[in-house]
Amino acid sequence: MISVPKPKYDGEYRVGVIAGDLNGITVTSAVLELYPYLERHLSMPIRHIHYPYNADYFNERDINELGDEELEVLAQNDQLYLGAVGDPTKIKPGVLEVGILLKLRQAFDQYVNLRPVILQEGIPSIIVGKTSKDINFEICRENSEGLYVAQGEVLNRGTDDEVGIQKMVCSYRGVKRLAEFAADRALDRKERRTNRTPRLHFAFKTNILTFAAVPWERVYKEFSSRTDLDVRYIHVDNLMMQMVLAPEQFDVILTENMFGDIATDLGAVIQGGIGSAVSGNINPSGRFPSMFEPIHGSAPDKWYNSIDGKLIAGTKREDLIQRVRPEAAFMSYAMMLEQMGEKKAADLLKEAALANLRDPDYKQKNLDELINQTIKYISTSAV
Ligand code: IPM
Ligand code: MN
Repeated sequence: MISVPKPKYDGEYRVGVIAGDLNGITVTSAVLELYPYLERHLSMPIRHIHYPYNADYFNERDINELGDEELEVLAQNDQLYLGAVGDPTKIKPGVLEVGILLKLRQAFDQYVNLRPVILQEGIPSIIVGKTSKDINFEICRENSEGLYVAQGEVLNRGTDDEVGIQKMVCSYRGVKRLAEFAADRALDRKERRTNRTPRLHFAFKTNILTFAAVPWERVYKEFSSRTDLDVRYIHVDNLMMQMVLAPEQFDVILTENMFGDIATDLGAVIQGGIGSAVSGNINPSGRFPSMFEPIHGSAPDKWYNSIDGKLIAGTKREDLIQRVRPEAAFMSYAMMLEQMGEKKAADLLKEAALANLRDPDYKQKNLDELINQTIKYISTSAV
């Protein structure tokens, strides 16, 4: 079970907000527009503290990662909420991803990236014959090591003998603590799966990545002796097939960082699209804040020509903003509320976002209409 961290301050929660760039700014301000209507459903108000960490901030200071000063102020918050970072017209793709996202995940030891793959009732599936009963599992992506430790080297740069090397670091402690979290999640999901022992799938590529696999195999073996769980192993390539062919076999999957990154894009699509996929970068100890974000909240490639970085000819920025979908941002905020123990407000916000997604006219509606109908849903619900 995720333990509910105790708020650091009396009488209010403090949530650090990093809106980021482009769509990140748009969806974050949409979330904050809803907040006043949610407040009465909370046991304590939330104070949002804004941090301008984005492309401009990095450019103005000529930095490529957040430093100790920024980390210290962020650490003062109970939770963090992130819109999306990256703007190819201002900064090279990858700088903010590593300098903000990966940096925070590692510095704050947010070692689980919890990404539910749940097709909600009333949302059509792209897999023929599968319903919300079949697509209902969670991916616990390792979030602090694996292939995303940003370690490696380039040999003979610029010559024909150039070689890029990226390290995959998997530690026994790292895999074990992730497995413990995932096992607890699987047990928590028991009530949703009455007819079988909850399943825990370890997903890796032990047949090829024979060095990095050593801790994965060891932890898998240790967990296999548990009688309260049905512990299984699956190669990650096979996992991609099985998530489409037979998603009903999964309850909770744990996997390496990059495998989880890839698997959760597929997960997003089978649960109704990237616009409905949420994620929590969780520090289960509560020692540092956790961070919640929509998966791939930013879609700069929809705004800009990805080759020359210019706004696609004939499009107006305002029109594009109106095409942004806010539901994943709403539901990530709801996931944060749930983690804070504010279940009532969390459920309400989630239901409001789902009401949008179920709306038959959803595709025709612009952003303002979606925000307004979400506000209406929240403010007309019984207290
Ligand atoms: C995601 C994204 C990020 C990640 C990138 C932008 C660092 O792909 O949230 O899945 O790999 O986690
Ligand atoms: Mn991703």
